[in-house]
Amino acid sequence: MRRRSTVWRLTALLATISVLVMAVLGIAIDQAVRHNFNALDRAELENKAALISDMVATVAPQQLGERLGEALGHHPDIAFWISDADGSTVFSTAPAALLEYAGQQSPTAQRRQQVWRLPDGNHYRVLYLRQPPTQGAPLRLLLAIDGARHAPFLRGFHQLLAACIVLAAVASSLLGGYVVRRTLRPLQSLADEARQITTEHLDRRLSVAAAPAELDHLAQTLNSMLARLQNDFVRLSEFSADLSHELRTPITNLLTQVHVVLAQPRDNAAYRDALGSCAEEMQRLSRIIADMLYLAQAETVDALPTRERVALGSLVDVLLEFYGLLAEDKQVQLRRDGDAELQGNRLMIHRAVANLLSNAIQHCPPGGVVQVRIGSSDGRCSIEVSNPGPQIAADALPRLFDRFYRADRSRGRGHGEGAGLGLAITRAIAQAHGGQVQVASTAQGTTFSLLLPLA
Ligand SMILES: Nc1ncnc2c1ncn2[C@@H]1O[C@H](COP(=O)(O)OP(=O)(O)O)[C@@H](O)[C@H]1O
Ligand SMILES: [Mg+2]
Repeated sequence: MRRRSTVWRLTALLATISVLVMAVLGIAIDQAVRHNFNALDRAELENKAALISDMVATVAPQQLGERLGEALGHHPDIAFWISDADGSTVFSTAPAALLEYAGQQSPTAQRRQQVWRLPDGNHYRVLYLRQPPTQGAPLRLLLAIDGARHAPFLRGFHQLLAACIVLAAVASSLLGGYVVRRTLRPLQSLADEARQITTEHLDRRLSVAAAPAELDHLAQTLNSMLARLQNDFVRLSEFSADLSHELRTPITNLLTQVHVVLAQPRDNAAYRDALGSCAEEMQRLSRIIADMLYLAQAETVDALPTRERVALGSLVDVLLEFYGLLAEDKQVQLRRDGDAELQGNRLMIHRAVANLLSNAIQHCPPGGVVQVRIGSSDGRCSIEVSNPGPQIAADALPRLFDRFYRADRSRGRGHGEGAGLGLAITRAIAQAHGGQVQVASTAQGTTFSLLLPLA
């Protein structure tokens, strides 16, 4: 089915409404006019009946016919028939068909108007009276107004009405169509503007100022959608650039080493050395890829794979034990405060806390204390991991959780340093639990807080 355009619909609606209004108005005027004509006819019949009664009462019967002829002869609209009691005509202007019909009716004593429908199709408004005798013999009076008397006027009126209806329909279609088209023009220009917005021109926006009030909200909504899309698009482009960069570096290292070793014959020990450092590089590559996969999965889960009761205190203790050697190595102390239990995925929470802890140990100066505080309030629990150390720049804070972001890139990639995916994974895990990660950094140190709902 083809969809009809709004212009077409509104134009048709306007035309229909104006035709209906004109028609109702026309019917009302028609009724009023007919009512008025009936009242006039009724009054006229009464007047003439009174006039005839007067004449019958005052004029001698021999002159009656003549006087009636003088008084009524020039009333072509009304048919008169005045007769004796025995039916012989005194005065008549009535057509034969009417007289024949009157022959079958009996006159009444009261003035009661009737409507007669003759067999030939004509109808008359009629007064048919028995005139009580004042002088001489009683008379019969018949006064009849032809029902078709007003037909020419009504016909003219109906033609005028029809013309007005057609005119109204045409005028309102043209005018309505024009107005609707004009009103919808801003939509067209919004569409034109939207067509200009491509991936190369994602910074363009729809011009809100030009849009009429009703479209203003739509334009603003579309603009904020564009802003979000642009933001995501930029991040996606950066991400693919970062990803290629991260993968290219270890592969370049591998190739270089292999080429150097193959350039000339070497002894077994040299080959073993070369293979060893190749394995290290490949391990790094495989970790990045595994992390990327994990991140992609964690970011797209709608529901956690499994939820179980997780005791945070013992989970953290296991991790502190695991990182004990590394901490000792860096002359860093590890401590835990508090405990809480929540419903969540143990493996994921384990990984999230491990990422925070390994960062804290890595950035903690020798002799410092890495502190893990567990608490719960308002239906959620918090795991805060803090370490002393230099303050992180305020503008870097929101970017820490981006993939591949490392605050101090100039340091290069020392061994043991990650690819910058740890915090991104921690955030994805928090979000999969319906929670979040926050960071606060002062001159005294840095605290990461993992906030998770209890259930
Ligand atoms: N406890 C911390 N103190 C100072 N800086 C930190 C801390 N934790 C993370 N960062 C900064 O955030 C960056 C991103 O961390 P992360 O995503 O774990 O990546 P990676 O550990 O692989 O560098 C780190 O490179 C570091 O600059
Ligand atoms: Mg890390």
